Amino acid sequence: MHLFVVGAGYVGLVTAVGMQRLGHRVTVHDIDAGRIESLTSGVSPIFEPGIDEALSEGLSSGRLTFTLDPVPAQDVDVAVVCVPTPRGPDGLLDLGLVEGVVGRLLTQLSPGQTIVVRSTLPLHGPDQLADLANRHPVRPALLINPEFMREGRAIQDFQTPSRVVVGAVTPEDGPAASTYATVFESLGAPIVVADARSVVLIKLASNVFLSAKVAFADELARLSDAMGADVMVVVEGLGLDPRIGPAFLQPGPGFGGSCFPDQAASIGLEAERRGIQAPLLASITPSNARHQAELVTEVGRWLGRDLAGSRIGILGLAFKANTDDVRESPALAIIRGLRAAGAEVSGYDPVAGPNAQRADPELVLRASPAEVASGADAVVVVTEWAAFGELDWADLAPRMRGDLVYDARRICSPDAVAAAGLRYVPLGRARSSGSVPPSRAGAGPG
Ligand code: UGA
Repeated sequence: MHLFVVGAGYVGLVTAVGMQRLGHRVTVHDIDAGRIESLTSGVSPIFEPGIDEALSEGLSSGRLTFTLDPVPAQDVDVAVVCVPTPRGPDGLLDLGLVEGVVGRLLTQLSPGQTIVVRSTLPLHGPDQLADLANRHPVRPALLINPEFMREGRAIQDFQTPSRVVVGAVTPEDGPAASTYATVFESLGAPIVVADARSVVLIKLASNVFLSAKVAFADELARLSDAMGADVMVVVEGLGLDPRIGPAFLQPGPGFGGSCFPDQAASIGLEAERRGIQAPLLASITPSNARHQAELVTEVGRWLGRDLAGSRIGILGLAFKANTDDVRESPALAIIRGLRAAGAEVSGYDPVAGPNAQRADPELVLRASPAEVASGADAVVVVTEWAAFGELDWADLAPRMRGDLVYDARRICSPDAVAAAGLRYVPLGRARSSGSVPPSRAGAGPG
């Protein structure tokens, strides 16, 4: 099969290298000349484990090519649309770019060929696409095929998906949906072929359910702190119920990234637009924001001095480990909160530093954990990079002005921190692991 992928961003590139690994010929088009040039020479513009190997594999086999030409070749079987759907001013995902590309492809391709939209769509997306398709009495098939790939594990998630979901935009597109789904048969995952409205809700609901699970674990972490329980034991016990499961119950500094925050916010708006009262769906975004604000307060409580004028070092700026993505990163929200309280904040990340600096020009970026610790009253671990679990606290401790290590990811070794003479305060076990912070003293069983 010959695929024409439009958009050499995250979703497009991972899809392209994954499809070429399935033995297909893939041509990737993007409007960014620099991006196409760099990809043609084998350099990936995105950071993703395994992408460079997959890219050079595709280039050397000749199955993967990149082009600035927006017109698909005659022999293209499927055009895959992977352009962004950023949040628009109304808070919903904006379909503008997708509509532009699909509108063009509807005139460039013919019956027998297929357009597949892989970009994440708003719930009204399928209806808008159907309106667009219906303007062309003779046209290629139009499908949607959302992705469920996690940044940092996207190549692996493409190759071993939990499921493949394909939606027909109109009933006439049903047969093409079943044919396209066979492309994924060799991956051995369950395949769901359905109408596009159901499929778009599967994608949104999956992300929102997972973000709700994270927000739930984060609220439990603060409840555990307040009552002297250990949230790690709590989520382990919870996750052992097969109806709940252990995944996405790891408490942390709140969820971030390009998907969860946007989608958790938009589902409430989408429900409201349709006159549906959905207080549960509407509560996820405020829960996440409250959690991040409370973490700032919590650091202040444990600091033993006023946040104003304090120096706080942040370890980890990416929204999660193994990515350089800082979109909606909890680290940036926490940094803003600390700064608003008068703290001087510096930060370090193994790969996301430059992106964080662009997103927050006021950020004082450091080149190593040792630099972040130098002169700091507290070090706060925000991203779960494996290297932060192996820090040499004996080396960091003498560089610090204070002695607080607040671990929002539960990744550091409590013994190593304590052995260095520092105070280890882990999210979700704070009260049972150390002295009660001053403002909470006497507030409960200590
Ligand atoms: C998410 C989904 O997991 C993918 O299935 C989906 O395809 C993707 O969005 C998308 O829509 O494109 P991603 O944004 O890469 O993937 O990130 P996740 O690994 O899901 O993590 C999201 C956030 O939740 C991160 O901030 C992470 O640190 C946080 N998280 C996750 C926790 O705090 N605890 C957990 O147990 C799991």
